[in-house]
Amino acid sequence: LELQLNLEQIEKGGYDHFMLKEIYEQPHAILDTYRGRLLADQGIIRMAGIDQHLEKFVNANRIIIVACGTSWHAGLVAEYIFEDLARVPVEVEYASEFRYRNPIITDKDVLIAISQSGETADTLAAIKLAKEKGAFVFGVCNVVGSSIARETHAGAYTHAGPEIGVASTKAFTTQITILTLMALKLGKEKGEFSESKFHEYLAELENIPAKVQIALESNPLIEIIADVYKDSSNCLYLGRGYNFPVALEGALKLKEISYIHAEGYPAAEMKHGPIALIDEQMPVIVIATNKGHYEKVVSNIQEIKSRKGKIIAIVTEGDEQVKELADHVVEIPETIESLTPLLTTIPLQLLSYHIAVMRNCNVDQPRNLAKSVTVE
Ligand code: AGP
Repeated sequence: LELQLNLEQIEKGGYDHFMLKEIYEQPHAILDTYRGRLLADQGIIRMAGIDQHLEKFVNANRIIIVACGTSWHAGLVAEYIFEDLARVPVEVEYASEFRYRNPIITDKDVLIAISQSGETADTLAAIKLAKEKGAFVFGVCNVVGSSIARETHAGAYTHAGPEIGVASTKAFTTQITILTLMALKLGKEKGEFSESKFHEYLAELENIPAKVQIALESNPLIEIIADVYKDSSNCLYLGRGYNFPVALEGALKLKEISYIHAEGYPAAEMKHGPIALIDEQMPVIVIATNKGHYEKVVSNIQEIKSRKGKIIAIVTEGDEQVKELADHVVEIPETIESLTPLLTTIPLQLLSYHIAVMRNCNVDQPRNLAKSVTVE
């Protein structure tokens, strides 16, 4: 047994849990995912799975994204990115809903299936349905040779390495990396933006691993914040635009490893009901980075504060305004708006991790959960 324990310690690379190791692997995982694809000095993005079917993407009426859980949240981020950069209509579907509702699919549709394990039954079934109806199906998977990778017409692997923790972390950020490369490539091909904007994006993507590393340096502060809120019964996550899916993802992380009920919401939706939940017992995590309707998020924070909600704000480094309002502030480096999810998700992963550890939960294998849901 001792040898077994030592082997597991070696596999964890000195971290207490696989999840923490995988959170810290993200700078490298993102780099590995764009390596060989993002050729910034040549001003090109090379993705064989796209290059060989470029006309399918360029001529697509719309892109349908199917996925589950965290991969579905990556799909929501991709909706903003594709519509912003490639100007193509996108709809994001829960695979389990899509497959049973007899969806309208034509051969002018491109379906992107996102799955870390490549074995999720509902996602696999959605792919088969879309293929029967003539859609071109592209897979974004992390496990080479997985069922979804083999079922799709083409695809791109994230190179996150094995993700052992049931709660998905590096898979999420590497999925977003792949989807960003795809949207940039498609947008460039369609002439949706200038050469200079394209180069600006490529250069900033190359900065992301180092910026994720900086975001990880907030870990000690986040551990202190986790200690304050570890006994909460409920938690609210708010974000706008690109960071609305990140709010959903942050809430899912907390739910699945600490068993605290948490909910993600578009920040502006608060006044349509959920603000009734706010009192001094309700911690509210607000993603308030300086891009995308910042002033409106600040007023959302003021609304919460006036109702005595406790506010943990994720802000762009150097922010002074939110610092005056929030109970706790975690800074992340500045980046292009469409790349902020790669950074804002980091403190939320760490917050859920520390709260779960403080609650003595089984972080790597939470109750009732499996790493891959291969049953329907
Ligand atoms: C996320 O932390 C969960 N482990 C779960 O929601 C997961 O994202 C979902 O089951 C989809 O898995 P897949 O990416 O392997 O298809």
